Amino acid sequence: MGRVPFFYHDLGQAELDSVAEVLAGPILTTGETVEQFEHGFAEYLGRRHALAVSSCTGALHLSLLALGIGEDDEVITTPMTFVATATAILEAGAKPVFVDVEPETGNMDVSKIESAITTYTKAIMPVHLYGQMCDMQTIRKIADNYGLSVIEDAAHCVEGLRDGVRPGELGDTACFSFYATKSITSGEGGALVTDNDALTRKLRFLSLHGMSKTAADRHREGYQHWDMEILGWKYNMSNIQAAFLLPQMERIEMNWRKRDTLAKRYEALLEGVSNIKLPQTVQGVRHAHHLFPIWVNPKHRDHLIRGLQEEGVSVVVNYRALHLLTYFQKEFVFQSGAFPVAEHIGNSTISLPFYPTMPEEHVTIVVDTLKGLLKECV
Ligand SMILES: Cc1ncc(COP(=O)(O)O)c(C=O)c1O
Repeated sequence: MGRVPFFYHDLGQAELDSVAEVLAGPILTTGETVEQFEHGFAEYLGRRHALAVSSCTGALHLSLLALGIGEDDEVITTPMTFVATATAILEAGAKPVFVDVEPETGNMDVSKIESAITTYTKAIMPVHLYGQMCDMQTIRKIADNYGLSVIEDAAHCVEGLRDGVRPGELGDTACFSFYATKSITSGEGGALVTDNDALTRKLRFLSLHGMSKTAADRHREGYQHWDMEILGWKYNMSNIQAAFLLPQMERIEMNWRKRDTLAKRYEALLEGVSNIKLPQTVQGVRHAHHLFPIWVNPKHRDHLIRGLQEEGVSVVVNYRALHLLTYFQKEFVFQSGAFPVAEHIGNSTISLPFYPTMPEEHVTIVVDTLKGLLKECV
């Protein structure tokens, strides 16, 4: 680990106690602990239903399947995201159609959506990049005008809000990640929320082999024959994973406030530093602060990454534009320059160390190291 780690989880005694409780019981796989987490998560987001699953990728994939999206369908999304957004679309058998992003935020440019709609388009999949929600009111309006579904990739955005709208409020579903570096984590894990009762029932079946009974049902009720009604997948969350998540739900707002304070400190120290731009937070947004990215001159980006790492500051890149990755180039023959804003951000961005228990003096070290390295960049 470097002098300044990129991320460190805050799991401790509360999680150990919670997992010990599951280990003392009979059901390690999906059962009451998962149900308890689902209730709490749905309540936190103000939604009727939550389904806990094994990853956000699984939640995105299931949402597409449950909404009937597959072969020959197109889903409009952004190239400025993690690969999973697009691979979930591909795994459903559909085609990701990218639209470029806004230069100020990196979020999908909603003014570009309509011109990407064809007779094959079935859904829009916005990504709330870094923790800032997209303009969901406009996206929902476009979707309704064209009869499209909306699946929110809210992997970065559990705590986000925009103009009073929360993730999952205007989308048919919103999907979340509990991967190792996310704001709540079970190492791997995910969930989706929705207000649609019928869709929830279908999603539950699809998440566990299409089976009519879970292991916990069989334990509760004694063995009864179960049926397989539809072809499903294996995306259920275990009680062990849910046990990690339950105590973190109690800290979620406190940890958000800590990240908000750290973000403000970074912003204050970086103000006026030439050659560093910060993504802008749109009026009316409560930023979930999943990541703290800076945008630098693409000419200097990789030099800065190397320099920071040599000085013991761990950084990562979220993300290089998807359409330039080998697979997408090969399969879809995207030209360089096809989505210029996403490409520019992808060549400029560096995510700085950022997590709720990060010592404030580390923020100062990161910024001082950056300033020193920038002096070498001419
Ligand atoms: C924007 C985005 N979408 C989807 C995912 C996939 O999440 P998971 O690893 O839980 O499948 C991630 C994970 O980092 C992500 O950042």
